[in-house]
Order: sequence, then structure tokens, then C-alpha cells
Amino acid sequence: MPALVLLGAQWGDEGKGKATDLLGGSVDYVVRYQGGNNAGHTVVVGDQKYALHLLPSGILSPGCTPVIGNGVVVDPSVLLSELSGLNERGVDTSKLLISGNAHIITPYNVTVDKVTERFLGKRKIGTTGRGIGPTYADKINRVGIRVQDLYDESILTQKVEAALDAKNQILTKLYNRRAIAVEQVVEELLGYAEKIKPYVADTVLVLNQALEDDKVVLFEGGQGTLLDIDHGTYPFVTSSNPTAGGACTGAGVGPTKISRVIGILKAYTTRVGAGPFPTELFDEDGEALRRIGGERGVTTGRDRRCGWFDAVIARYATRVNGLTDFFLTKLDVLTGWEQIPVCVAYEIDGKRVEELPYSQTDFHHAKPVYEMLPGWSEDISKAKSFSDLPKNAQAYVKALEEMSGAPISAIGVGPGRDETIEINSFL
Ligand code: GDP
Ligand code: IMO
Ligand code: MG
Repeated sequence: MPALVLLGAQWGDEGKGKATDLLGGSVDYVVRYQGGNNAGHTVVVGDQKYALHLLPSGILSPGCTPVIGNGVVVDPSVLLSELSGLNERGVDTSKLLISGNAHIITPYNVTVDKVTERFLGKRKIGTTGRGIGPTYADKINRVGIRVQDLYDESILTQKVEAALDAKNQILTKLYNRRAIAVEQVVEELLGYAEKIKPYVADTVLVLNQALEDDKVVLFEGGQGTLLDIDHGTYPFVTSSNPTAGGACTGAGVGPTKISRVIGILKAYTTRVGAGPFPTELFDEDGEALRRIGGERGVTTGRDRRCGWFDAVIARYATRVNGLTDFFLTKLDVLTGWEQIPVCVAYEIDGKRVEELPYSQTDFHHAKPVYEMLPGWSEDISKAKSFSDLPKNAQAYVKALEEMSGAPISAIGVGPGRDETIEINSFL
């Protein structure tokens, strides 16, 4: 059984943590391939709730090896505190593997993220302030610091010097901030080196050997399709590739190894941070979705913007990721509405458009065209099979499936592991 990718089909927070955890017991490796601790993945096991930021959700499944791939950006202080937080709760984290090629989020990357946002003022992206964009920028500019650099003090010093050379000019002259001292950064980073060392591995080799041995590898995306640096609503995106191709580059596994790409899709839509969002609600319905769905950011605690389901987005996610399946989450949150609007197309400058517009200007002008679907009032949180759902809930799922372009193979009816209806097996 080869590799599966599980990723966000909208703007993040679709329920990737829960979906990964559900499969965690049946897979051998769970791999994060992009992003960093901008992610907030919630896993509910019994009465225990975990919020994972950098670590793959598979860390909560005892048989599974969690892997941080080369495409991830790693903040060492966050890594160590997340590990110790889990250890205190009795979770064994000793199997974790971290790619030596993963880039490090340094303290100056976090500073640059925050001052850049402040400088942008009204035009800000609304980043998580975790240093994600500046760290990927350093990677692309070839002045990044990698995990393996922590083990060669001379190289580390040279690289920090090179990175700070231009940054200190910008910090002092443009942003009116104090310069950051090379020695201080090097000292802090060296302080993490020995603590992280037991986990550092050639993860590309490990994963490819595992696939040759017929082990099951699950790639857990962070963020979502519309936050992708290439395919998302640029510039209101994150700085990595959450889409399916990112799993190949971010873990060093060829596309021929990937057999299944599962899009996690919320039964409505949410977004955190700035940027266009055609179905966004500013009324009581939006407030109700936020309240009933508990739509508050796991990482930054910000209220999430809420809106109705957008089938144009879902079709787009199917296309750019080559989705084989959807996992529809939070259907239970829609219980109680008499009618549920679903966006089936956009109207842009008086014309009906069925697919995501290519131009940013058009997307900013897109108005949702809604179709009303009949709602249901029965509690669905105990439903175990599709036929347990009220007829109107079944029809809602079938309509979404039809519009979105891939089969809905699982449905979430609550946050817990067992609050899931499995339609087609993923493994
Ligand atoms: P992720 O970033 O994609 O992992 O998603 P988040 O954890 O940020 O947000 C999803 C939230 O929805 C979490 O609080 C989950 O516990 C919760 N959740 C996931 N699936 C379901 C579901 O089917 N029903 C309900 N009610 N909550 C869910
Ligand atoms: P998970 O994995 C939702 C958003 C931020 C901001 C933009 C850029 O939990 O789904 P960044 O700090 O990445 O440079 O911020 O991306 N963002 C997320 N939104 N869920 C996430 O992760 C996100 N990670 C980043 O709010 O708009
Ligand atoms: Mg999240």
C-alpha cells in the first residue's frame, strides 16, 4: 500500500488533525511536508483534546512514526516545548524523525514577520506572526539556516552572518528597530542542537525505504489549497505549497508513489486572516456558524471568518490536487437551519462563472450565486452510517459531492474520533 496525501481543500482549519488521527492507527508514518507552527491541528481522543502546531498528528498514534519533512520550517523552541507538553501528558514522542534539510525559523525571522505586517498596515496579510514567510524567503534567497547547520558551529556562524547582513540594514534603516547580534542568535540556536539531535535523520531515505517495504505513509498537509503560494488567493496566502505536489517536494517522495489524495472539506467555509472570501457572512448566520462550529483559531485565538459552502472552491481543489476523495467535516454544525444556501457559481461583473477566476481582480469582485438546499433539525452526532442521516442531510452531502467533483468518502459529525461516518475505506 503506497502513500496517501491528506490536505485542506479550502482556507485551512477543515479538520485535518481529526482526519489524520482517525487514520493514524492504520498507517506506519505520518509526515508533515510544508508549513510550520502556523498550523493548529486539533485532535480529540476521548476526553482529551490536543492542539498540534508543528508535530504531525500521527504522534498521538502509538504504532506510527511521525516525520517532519524537508519542506517544513522548524522553530526549535516551539518544537521542544510541544514535545515536552506531550511528554507531560504521557505521549511517547521518541520515534519522531526530523529532516536535516528542514529550514529553521530563527528569532530574526519571527521579528521580520511581525515588523513587516506592522509596516503593511491596512494591506497586511494577517499572518500568524510565527516567522513562516521570512523563513521561506531566506530559503529561496539561499540564506536560510537548516537543521543540519546546528551541528557545525563555524558554518552556522557564517550563515547567520550572511542572513543578518542585509536584514540588519533593513531592520535599523527601514523599520527603525535595533540590529540583531550574530553571536546571540548563534548561541541560542546552539542551545537547541543537542536536544534535537536524537530526532535528526535522512527522512527521504527512511520514507522511500518504507514505501519499498510496503509500509503505509500518510502525508498530512498544513493550511489549505486556497492558502497555497502558487494556487491560492495570492498574496493572501501562506509561503509554502499545501497542495498535493508539495508532498513530493516537501518529503522527497516521487509522485508515482502517491495513490490517494484526500481533500478535507468543511460543510461550510471559514478563513482566518485577510483576503477575498466570496461566501463570507456578516450577519446572524455567520455568527451562528462561528458559535456552533467553535470557529476560533487554534494558533492565534482569532475569530474565524465564516460563510456558506462554496462549490467553486471545492471543484478547484479537486482539480489542482487531483483529489481522489473528500472527507466532509462538521456536517453536524449545519443542523437546525431550515434552508442551507450553497454557492454553486459566481457572478462577476454581471456574468455567471462556474470556475475559479484566473484573475485576482475578478475574484475580488466575485459574488456568490446560491442554490437553497433543505435543512434538517435532527441531531446527527450519533449517526454511524450514511443511512442513519436524515434524508435532507443525505441530499445535502450528495449535492456537495455532485458539485465538487470527487466522492465524499467520510463524513464528520462531531470532533471525536468515533464521530465519523465512513463510506469508502481510505486504506
Ligand atoms: P485543522 O487545522 O484542519 O486540523 O482544523 P482545526 O483543528 O484548526 O479546526 C477544526 C475544528 O473542528 C477542531 O476544533 C476540531 O476538533 C473540530 N472538528 C473536526 N471535525 C469535526 C466534525 O466533524 N464536527 C465538529 N463539530 N467538529 C469537528
Ligand atoms: P491549519 O494547518 C488557517 C493563514 C494566516 C494568514 C496566512 C499567512 O491549522 O489549517 P502565515 O503565518 O502562514 O504566513 O499566514 O495564512 N494561515 C492559516 N489559516 N489555518 C492554518 O493552518 C493557517 N496557517 C496560516 O491566518 O492569513
Ligand atoms: Mg487549524
